Order: sequence, then structure tokens, then C-alpha cells
Amino acid sequence: MAFKHSFAALLLLLPAFSHGAKVPSLPPARASCSVLPEHLPLKNVSTLPDPFTFLNGEKVRNLDDFACRQAEVNALFQRMELGTLPPRPEKITSTFTNNNNLTINVSNEGKSISFNMPVQFPTTGDGPFPVMIGVGGASIPIPSNVALINFNNDDMAQQNSESSRGIGKFFDLYGVNATASSMTAWAWAISRIIDVLEDTPGHLNLDLDRIGVTGCSRDGKGALVAGAFDPRILLTIPQESGSGGAGCWRISDVMWNEGIDTQTAMEIVQENDWFSVGFEQYVNTTSLLPFDHHMLAGLVAPRPLFVIDNTDYVWLGPESVWGCMSTAHKVYEALQIPDVMGVSQIGNHSHCDFPSDQQAQLSAFFDKFFFGDTKANTSVLETDGANGANEFVESQWVDWAIPRLA
Ligand SMILES: *[C@@H]1O[C@H](CO)[C@@H](O)[C@H](O)[C@H]1NC(C)=O
Ligand SMILES: *[C@@H]1O[C@H](CO)[C@@H](O)[C@H](O)[C@H]1NC(C)=O
Ligand SMILES: *[C@@H]1O[C@H](CO)[C@@H](O)[C@H](O)[C@H]1NC(C)=O
Ligand SMILES: *[C@@H]1O[C@H](CO)[C@@H](O)[C@H](O)[C@H]1NC(C)=O
Ligand SMILES: *[C@@H]1O[C@H](CO)[C@@H](O)[C@H](O)[C@H]1NC(C)=O
Ligand SMILES: *[C@@H]1O[C@H](CO)[C@@H](O)[C@H](O)[C@H]1NC(C)=O
Ligand SMILES: *[C@@H]1O[C@H](CO)[C@@H](O)[C@H](O)[C@H]1NC(C)=O
Repeated sequence: MAFKHSFAALLLLLPAFSHGAKVPSLPPARASCSVLPEHLPLKNVSTLPDPFTFLNGEKVRNLDDFACRQAEVNALFQRMELGTLPPRPEKITSTFTNNNNLTINVSNEGKSISFNMPVQFPTTGDGPFPVMIGVGGASIPIPSNVALINFNNDDMAQQNSESSRGIGKFFDLYGVNATASSMTAWAWAISRIIDVLEDTPGHLNLDLDRIGVTGCSRDGKGALVAGAFDPRILLTIPQESGSGGAGCWRISDVMWNEGIDTQTAMEIVQENDWFSVGFEQYVNTTSLLPFDHHMLAGLVAPRPLFVIDNTDYVWLGPESVWGCMSTAHKVYEALQIPDVMGVSQIGNHSHCDFPSDQQAQLSAFFDKFFFGDTKANTSVLETDGANGANEFVESQWVDWAIPRLA
């Protein structure tokens, strides 16, 4: 079986990254793929929706279809859950001072904002260096040969409570009534950081083929959204993002209905502004959503994704995260690259306190996808099962087959 996988993956390979292991690329999606009907045909689906069936019922049969389906799913997330992600703005300029302070100015339709961030370079080696972007900083150990950009997401879109909505530089630029949620605003800004790196001659000695994103908890939800929305990000590592990130709304609702005190869509829209105002109408009927978060993770494919989670916290939804992400893994299985996505869920540590037990797995993702160690073992799909994580029964949630996409 393992041989079959790697043989099939070879057939898909396209030259991609000079230093990391090769991963397949998808063909570009036609513009029409992201055009949704004005009135969405919503059905009541209590299982996890099929990532491989279009809204109109047609099946995904090959890589072209899959790229098209991703564009459709991306549009659905923007329309129903996350708000509109604006395109590249009219004007972007930057300055880089003291060899660490990157300032980005953005202007659009007569308004402008400026935001800055520290860039921390490795102290040894010559570069160009791979770079991680930390949403609100990084809570995982960043390898010493990888640069780190700490992105101040709260400055871009505040996230203190639901009343933070519309506050932050993103909304100074696009207006307080922009539909974008705070997470969409952060993803937009991360894309502007990448624009600037692309536009700067020498790219600040960073390797733009090896960009990663990470964050923990609420910022882990944000890291997953950023990785889903910008294909220039190679490696996405959400940490302990829980419900609203690596968890699926439907599974969290079932947990809640069983009396488990876990975060649900209904709770989350009252707690904070991470999701759009438009999402509120679905929070008590999540079975009407034509997607769930296994498909948000599916937008990252075929790029590497390593989901780190913590079974100690019932609030994060251990069963929801395990069920959701092991289902998302089927997207990578369909692409015949199962080792490009990993899930590791263990407890016995404080929230966002990275445990040494996961170090070898995390290092394997950096080694393979940033440093080209093709032998690094990224075949990680495991939970310690604590707090009901292993109560997820796949046959109750997944009623679709995994196609073989080539
Ligand atoms: C970085 O530069 C900007 C101006 O470009 C300045 O406002 C900011 O204070 C600087 N930050 C640090 C930490 O020096
Ligand atoms: C960026 O914006 C700030 C404040 O709006 C301004 O002072 C600065 O000159 C601008 N820098 C660039 C490079 O446009
Ligand atoms: C935002 O929407 C509110 C409510 O509809 C409206 O009162 C306000 O004028 C709008 N603000 C802007 C800047 O468009
Ligand atoms: C969802 O349920 C909560 C709690 O019962 C309620 O406050 C909220 O208004 C409901 N939302 C919708 C859109 O029905
Ligand atoms: C969806 O179907 C289930 C099972 O029949 C039912 O309990 C639930 O109320 C329905 N939800 C909606 C939003 O219609
Ligand atoms: C984790 O904690 C649980 C409960 O406190 C305990 O039963 C288990 O042995 C611990 N596991 C490890 C790997 O330390
Ligand atoms: C890779 O690591 C996983 C756990 O992280 C382990 O279960 C598996 O056996 C390892 N595979 C190989 C080939 O070493």
C-alpha cells in the first residue's frame, strides 16, 4: 500500500521547491469556478459534507476538477463564514530599517494604512532563509535556521470581543462595515507581507518558496485561515486551534448536545469577531452549511499542513478536532500524498505550551518541506484519545468515497 502511494505520487510530481521536498501543484482554476449562485441551494446534511462533490451535484474526477472545487469551497467560506477577502490593493510600499524592522504601507481608494513587524533572522548560515510568519507570535519552537516574522494581528483587526468588530487597520482601509471577519483581515495582511517580500529585490534574503505560517489557539484558527487562502504559503502549522479552527462545527454541536462543555458556532459568534456577521444566521443550524472545517483544511492541499492539538482541553473539542482533521486527511489521500498532512493530538501540557513529545513530528515537517530531507517521517495521524477524542466514529460522519485524483 505504501509503495502504491509513493509510486502514484511520483506521477503527480512537478518541479516545485528548490530546497524542500517536492509537492504536487494543482492546475489553475477557471474564474467561473468561484462564481456562486445568488441563492445557495442549502441542504440539511448532518454528516461531514463531501469535499469531492460540487454544489451542483457533479463529482470531482481529476485534478482540474479538484482545483475548481477548491475555488468553489473558498468562495463558500467567504460568503457564509469568513467574509470577503479583498484582492491585492492598489499600492503597496515598504521600508526595511535596522535590518529587522519591516514597515508596510498600503493604499486603496484614497485611504492608506501602515503596519510594521520585526523580522528575526537566523544568526548562522547565509540564506536565503525559509521563514515562518507567526500570527500573534509563534508558540512552537522555530528551528534556528529559519527566520521568523511576528505579525501583530490584533493591530490589523482587534479580537477582544464581539464589540471589536470593525476595529483595526484593515477596517481603516476597507471601512468598518467590510464583511471580512478578523481572521480574514489577518489573512489579507499576511498576503500583503508576502507581496512585499516578492516586490523587494533580494526578498530580504528570505526564500519565498519556503514560507510557513503558525499561531496558537485563536491565532491558530487564524493561521489555518491564512494557509487556506494564500497558496504562496508552503507550510501551515495551526496549534491548538480547536473549534473554529481544526474542529468541525457539526461534531462540536453533537458534543454539546451530549452535555460536553465545548465551543460551538453558537457560542463563538457571541464571544468574538473571528467569523463574519453573515455566519450568525447558520450557527444554530450548522447542518445547512455546504462545508465544514475539514474542507477549510482541504483548501491547504496539496501544500503541507501539520495540525497540532491538545486533548487536555474539552473546550477545544478533542473529538471534533480529531474527527474533522482525520477526515481532512482524506483530501490528501485522494491526491495520493497522505504524508503531506499530519495530525498530532496529545494532552498533558498547558494550552499553547508545546510538548517535547511532539518535537520529532514537528521537526520532520520542517526537515522534509523546508530542508528537503525526503526521508523525514511526516506520516503522522494520531491522537492519545483522551477526553473522548477517540469517540469519533468515522462511519457515522463520512458517507462518501475517496476518489483517486490525477
Ligand atoms: C519600525 O519602523 C516604523 C516606521 O517605519 C516605526 O514607526 C516603528 O516604531 C519602528 N519599530 C521599531 C520596533 O523600531
Ligand atoms: C508610510 O506611511 C507613513 C504614515 O502614513 C508615512 O509617514 C510614510 O512616509 C510612508 N512610507 C512609505 C514608504 O510610503
Ligand atoms: C455601517 O453600517 C451601519 C449600519 O448599517 C451604518 O449606520 C453606518 O453608516 C455604516 N458605516 C459606514 C462607514 O458605511
Ligand atoms: C441561536 O441560538 C442562540 C441561543 O439560543 C440565540 O441567542 C440566537 O439568537 C440564535 N441565533 C439564530 C440565528 O437563531
Ligand atoms: C436536519 O435534519 C435532522 C434530522 O432529520 C433534524 O433533526 C434537524 O432539525 C434538521 N435541521 C434543519 C436545520 O432542518
Ligand atoms: C496524561 O495524563 C493522564 C491523566 O492525567 C494520564 O493518565 C496519562 O498517563 C498521561 N500520559 C502521559 C503520556 O503522560
Ligand atoms: C512515523 O511516525 C509515526 C508516528 O509519529 C509512527 O506511527 C510511524 O510508525 C512512523 N513511520 C515510520 C516508517 O517510521
